Amino acid sequence: MKFFIDTANLAQIREANDLGVLDGVTTNPSLMAKEGVKGQEAVYNHYKTICEIVTNGDISAEVVSTDFDGIIAEGKKLAAIHPNIIVKVPMIKDGVKAMKWFTDNGIKTNCTLVFSAGQAILAAKAGAKYVSPFIGRIDDSGWDGVQLIEQIARIYTIQGFETEILAASIRSSIHIIKCAEAGADVCTCPLDSILGLLKHPLTDIGLAKFLEDAKKFS
Ligand code: G3P
Repeated sequence: MKFFIDTANLAQIREANDLGVLDGVTTNPSLMAKEGVKGQEAVYNHYKTICEIVTNGDISAEVVSTDFDGIIAEGKKLAAIHPNIIVKVPMIKDGVKAMKWFTDNGIKTNCTLVFSAGQAILAAKAGAKYVSPFIGRIDDSGWDGVQLIEQIARIYTIQGFETEILAASIRSSIHIIKCAEAGADVCTCPLDSILGLLKHPLTDIGLAKFLEDAKKFS
């Protein structure tokens, strides 16, 4: 399973990248706004900087147009920033049409705002490289996000779809573990959820004891 970090914060991206286990980055307009990036040029430069930090991974950059022509024009500009850019397109009618156009024209896409198996089937049919079910937001609405990952994984296996399942809207380290079990190809996570995987009290207790005993022979 690949690890992406879900942020536009450069310090956090650097920290995750330095761990050596990062495979990519996802962003969205809300995450860009949170970093105070303003204006198209600044946004595009921010994506370029992210691509220069994570040199060996896919970087999702989201369109904000909602009509076919607008999505195509914007997607082409985003894809031109860097070869590692994946154009993130919302699951709407013109988005599906645009993803098929991008697929036919060699531009890779990440289908975002996915909340059902039907939407995941459409994304795969349009040739998206990634499909992003938002599992945390599904949990928030009283449904089970991890169950959706399992369902999509079953369908994609049965049908032989090559689209990768990118579990998004991850809220905790447990989400990452459950998505790994459920068959997600990628988890995009906040830094805290990735670092949370490190923690176990018995590791801390065991290390303290080893270090104490090491003093006896050093
Ligand atoms: O990038 C999309 C997704 O990960 C959003 O997460 O926490 O806003 O539901 P969240």
